[in-house]
Amino acid sequence: MATACPPLSLPPSYLSRRSARAGPARRPLPSVRCSAIGEAVAETATVGTAEEPLLVSAIKGKKVERPPVWLMRQAGRYMKSYQLLCERHPSFRERSENVDLVVEISLQPWKVFKPDGVILFSDILTPLPGMNIPFDIVKGKGPVIFDPLRTAAAVGEVREFVPEEWVPYVGQALNLLRDEVNNEAAVLGFVGAPFTLASYCVEGGSSKNFSKIKKMAFSEPAILHNLLQKFATSMANYIKYQADNGAQAVQIFDSWATELSPVDFEEFSLPYLKQIVDSVRETHPDLPLILYASGSGGLLERLPLTGVDVVSLDWTVDMAEGRKRLGSNIAVQGNIDPGVLFGSKEFISKRIYDTVQKAGNSGHVLNLGHGIKVGTPEENVAHFFEVAKGIRY
Ligand code: CP3
Repeated sequence: MATACPPLSLPPSYLSRRSARAGPARRPLPSVRCSAIGEAVAETATVGTAEEPLLVSAIKGKKVERPPVWLMRQAGRYMKSYQLLCERHPSFRERSENVDLVVEISLQPWKVFKPDGVILFSDILTPLPGMNIPFDIVKGKGPVIFDPLRTAAAVGEVREFVPEEWVPYVGQALNLLRDEVNNEAAVLGFVGAPFTLASYCVEGGSSKNFSKIKKMAFSEPAILHNLLQKFATSMANYIKYQADNGAQAVQIFDSWATELSPVDFEEFSLPYLKQIVDSVRETHPDLPLILYASGSGGLLERLPLTGVDVVSLDWTVDMAEGRKRLGSNIAVQGNIDPGVLFGSKEFISKRIYDTVQKAGNSGHVLNLGHGIKVGTPEENVAHFFEVAKGIRY
C-alpha cells in the first residue's frame, strides 16, 4: 500500500537554517529526508525485527527509518553503576574475563539507554595471554606488557590464538548477550588490528612517540612483519569465533594506524587488515565489518581498500566531506566529538542533527568519533540517545 512519506522529526527551524547557510554555490549536502515518497512505511525498519537488528539493516544499505545509534566505549568508565562494580571487582582482567561480569557490564548501558548496538565488554588486548604475551591493565597507567617484544626470538615465541581454548568466556558471554538482547539491538564484537596490537606489544604499553615500533619497522621490518602476520591470522580466527557465538557485527580497532605515514600504512597495516577481511569473507560473507582508525583524515581514501563494510570516522573529518572522500559503496559510522557530550542539551541535539543531515539517509550508524570520556554526565548520554532515536528520515 502506498502511503505518505514518514514524518521528518528534525526541527524545521534547524533544517531551514542549514539550507540557508549552505548557499547556492555549494554542492548540496545529502539531506535527511524521505527519499522514496510513496513507498510503504511498513517496509522501513524502525527497531530490530525478529530477523535483523536495525544496525545490521542500515549497514547493509537497506532502507531504515532512522540511523541506528550506539557509543564506542559505552560499557564502562563514565557509568556510576560501573564504578560501583569496579569497587567490588578492582581487577580489569577479572571484570573482562569472568562471564557473569562481562555480561553484566555489557548490559549496563543497554538497560539504561537502549542503544542499537550492545558491545561486548572486553579489550583489544584480551587475546594476548593466549598468544603467550602476558599483560595487565593497571589503573592510572593503562595497558602494561610485561615482556615487550623487541627481538626475532621474542616474536618467535608468539603463538597463534585459539579462541575456544583461551577465551571461552567471550563465546559464552556473546551467546548470553544474544539471548538477553533478543535482536532488539545488534550484539557487537571487536578485535584490535595487527598494527595497533603490535604497537602495544613492542612499546610495552601505551606510547606517545612510537619510537620502539618504528625502530623495528624501519630497521628490521621482517621481525615486525612476522608479528603482524601472527596477529592477522589470529584476529581473523577471533572474528569468526565471535560471529559463531553470536556477534552480529564486528568492529576492528586500528587506533594507532594513523601514527604511520600513508606509505608506511600501506606496508604495515593495510595488507593485514585486508587479509583479515578476505579471510572472514570466505567463511562469513554476510558478517558486517566496521573499521575504526582514530585520526584517519590523512588515510581516508585508503580505508575502503581493506574491504570493510563501514568506516568509522573521527570528529576531525567533516561528515559530508568524509562521505564524499569514501565513495558511495561504503557505510559510515560516527562522528560526533565525544567532548560534545559535556555541552548543553541544546548543543548536543544540534550536533546530532548536523551529523545525521550530512551523513544522508542511508548507510549511517550514528556514533561518537572516539570512545566516550570519563566524567561524561549520564543525563547527557540519555539525552543523546533520546534525540537520536527520535529522528526520522
Ligand atoms: O566499547 C566498549 O564499551 C567495549 C569495551 C572496550 C574496552 N576497550 C574496555 C576498556 C573496547 C572496545 C576497548 C578497545 C580498546 N582497548 C582500544 C581501541 C579503542 C580506542 O580507544 O582506540 C584500545 C586502544 C584499548 C587499549 C586500552 N585498554 C587502553 C588504552 C585502555 C585505557 C587505560 C585507562 O586507564 O584508561 C584500556 C583499558 C580499558 N578498556 C578501559 C575500558 C572500559 C578503562 C579501564 C577500566 O574501566 O577499568
